[in-house]
Amino acid sequence: MKSVKIKDKEFELFIQSNEIEKNIERIAHQINHDLAGKNPIFVAVLNGAFMFAGELMKKVSIPCEITFVRLASYQGTSSTEKVKEVLGLNESIEGRTVVIVEDIVDSGNTMVSLVDELGLQHPLEIKIATLLFKPDALKRDLKLDYVAMEIPSDFIVGYGLDYDGYGRNLNDIYKLKS
Ligand code: IMP
Ligand code: MG
Repeated sequence: MKSVKIKDKEFELFIQSNEIEKNIERIAHQINHDLAGKNPIFVAVLNGAFMFAGELMKKVSIPCEITFVRLASYQGTSSTEKVKEVLGLNESIEGRTVVIVEDIVDSGNTMVSLVDELGLQHPLEIKIATLLFKPDALKRDLKLDYVAMEIPSDFIVGYGLDYDGYGRNLNDIYKLKS
């Protein structure tokens, strides 16, 4: 089994690029079907979603826009409250169909705060497209509209996802060796 070492950890091949691309193409077709005539704006979350967003947009053939945001975590008003601030969204999303493009949904906390933040700008609707979903790790009530692949709760890298900043450039997805 092909494996890679990233910093101090060993990872083994988990999902090959052709399998990843086949699944991205499948959700792109769903999006083309569901959102035809809706002029959606895709909002991709940096850094993790950059490769997924690139591949997805090659297969989305309906008129649309794409923009990129970053999330910054900061402490909210109470000491336990974590708020995610959305940085870099210069386009108006008011009245628009928004499709969030995310690398992975784990606990769901990040996605819930992003949906809440974007909701403040009164979009028509918010859809979620994620490359990966760990159903066993989900802690929040969240409807995911487009999921390319469901995976167990292992730590993974590659195809945009990192371990401590490294591994994002891997074409395939690798999981941490146990
Ligand atoms: P959540 O808020 O728990 O859903 O976590 C989502 C974020 O955690 C993702 O956007 C990733 O940045 C990161 N993350 C979760 N699982 C993994 C993983 O297996 N590998 C790399 N990053 C991950
Ligand atoms: Mg992310």
